[in-house]
Amino acid sequence: MLTLALSKGRIFEETAPVLAKAGIRPLEDPEQSRKLIIPTSNPEVQIIIVRASDVPTYVQFGAADFGVAGQDVLLEKGSDGLYIPIDLGIARCRMAVAVKNGFDYAAAVRQGSRLRVATKYVNCAREHFANKGVHIDTIHLYGSMELAPLVGLADAIVDLVSTGNTLRANNLVEVESITDISARLIVNQASFKRKRAQLQKILSVWQP
Ligand code: ATP
Ligand code: PRP
Repeated sequence: MLTLALSKGRIFEETAPVLAKAGIRPLEDPEQSRKLIIPTSNPEVQIIIVRASDVPTYVQFGAADFGVAGQDVLLEKGSDGLYIPIDLGIARCRMAVAVKNGFDYAAAVRQGSRLRVATKYVNCAREHFANKGVHIDTIHLYGSMELAPLVGLADAIVDLVSTGNTLRANNLVEVESITDISARLIVNQASFKRKRAQLQKILSVWQP
């Protein structure tokens, strides 16, 4: 049996067509079902539904043989014990710094003032600003980062941007792009050795 870890929402939706190419169709829709283990049309493959940020953990510990995780999650949590053979090119976006419209970010950085940065990506934010020699205080949030500068919780946010609609709707502007993001196929290293033949069959049709 092969266990694939996926998160509900865009990762599941964008992975399903690629899985279909490998002849794997989930037998239930995770948006409709409360089941967390979903059998597929291939009796040798099951899907587990986990939080997006938990996908690498399940794969690292071998509770799942492989999974699909955003590069943002991998950068933030590290990828020890993972084999990352394929950039799937799905769930594309970028990690960026944004501030409230009118906030003089360039001046704040130039003056060396300590920026308060709200983000789910605390490690990525620290690394980005350390490379620029800018001192920051991080405020760890789990969602709705865009709210933080509007209510005075932070000067800036580090978050994902795709269309820019969420920033625009909240009167924020992107001031720096940190890195491009897409989803990666991640494989448990031990599974890759022990279940190589089974995995290769799926990986071979799994092209971005
Ligand atoms: P968690 O539930 O663990 O907090 P999440 O709510 O960020 O995670 P999703 O919104 O489903 O989970 O995002 C899953 C992945 O999709 C992210 O890790 C990222 O790689 C990518 N992603 C996030 N936002 C966008 C977006 N607006 N456009 C495209 N891809 C995105
Ligand atoms: C992500 C991200 C931004 C938004 C950006 O949120 O955290 O808020 O997408 O996309 P845009 O530039 O196209 O507007 P998501 O939709 O995943 O909501 P969530 O973080 O609450 O899951």
